[in-house]
Amino acid sequence: MSAARMIDGRAAAQALLDEVACDVAALREAGIEPCLAVVLVGDDPASDVYVRNKVRRTREVGIRSIEERLDAHTCEAALLALIARLNADPQVHGILVQLPLPAQIDAAAVLAAIDPHKDVDGFHRDNVGRLTLGESSLVPCTPQGCLLLLQQTLGDLAGKHAVVVGRSNIVGKPMAALLLNAHCSVSVLHSRSTNARELCRSADIVVVAVGRAGCVDASWIKPGAVVIDVGINRVADGAGQTRLTGDVDHASVAQVAAALTPVPGGVGPMTIACLMRNTVQAARHLAASLPASLPASPPIPLTLAR
Ligand code: GUN
Repeated sequence: MSAARMIDGRAAAQALLDEVACDVAALREAGIEPCLAVVLVGDDPASDVYVRNKVRRTREVGIRSIEERLDAHTCEAALLALIARLNADPQVHGILVQLPLPAQIDAAAVLAAIDPHKDVDGFHRDNVGRLTLGESSLVPCTPQGCLLLLQQTLGDLAGKHAVVVGRSNIVGKPMAALLLNAHCSVSVLHSRSTNARELCRSADIVVVAVGRAGCVDASWIKPGAVVIDVGINRVADGAGQTRLTGDVDHASVAQVAAALTPVPGGVGPMTIACLMRNTVQAARHLAASLPASLPASPPIPLTLAR
């Protein structure tokens, strides 16, 4: 029997999308049509699914969607030229380049070329720096979604010991910055950490983002901890099919944790909802910077109704 409460990422994401849809309607009333451009280079099947889901959600909340699909052999200069065009287009408020990019393209150069005010992924170095400094910025979507789920589950996070397992630029590092900004004591564990299991077992909050199925089991978790599983791994189910599973050994961790996100239905839906939220934030910012347009809105606070 499982002891942990399942954190319902689908419900939290739907609540957030409802808020975003209201914000979009208000922007449209004011004559601004929020618009997100998604760029996919190549035909990676997983990226294709992610992009299709993003485009569908974008349209559902009333945001205009532009989809730019480029051939797998596209050169870096051609992608940079597309980004320059989207940067210059006043009708485009958000730009997302789906990662990973083909080997001939330098992803760092591409991310640096996106206008930081349109960088709805929050991967531009200006936004990374602002997040690290605790200033308002466009915040990477997956860690933003994790933080919202943690705040909804625990309320104030101040003083909690949070362990982030994984140090990627997309999840681990911005997650650590967000938790630090929320006044947690933060440890980041990675492949070269010694004593990883013991350190993790002292945490009140555990966020796992390493991309390896089931690598954190109950022996890593303090009884009563809250565990967020960012992994989405496709594994064989033994009956000739595949199924999605997280980085956390769900069955064992559910015996000791107080609360745990499922996979699917945990962090994934929040990532897309936060992308929609970032697009609204970018549209508001760009609208406010135009002459005689909307009054500037405060940055969207990182909290979710409990
Ligand atoms: N690939 C995997 N996750 C992400 C993400 O959050 N943003 C982008 N652009 N690409 C990704």
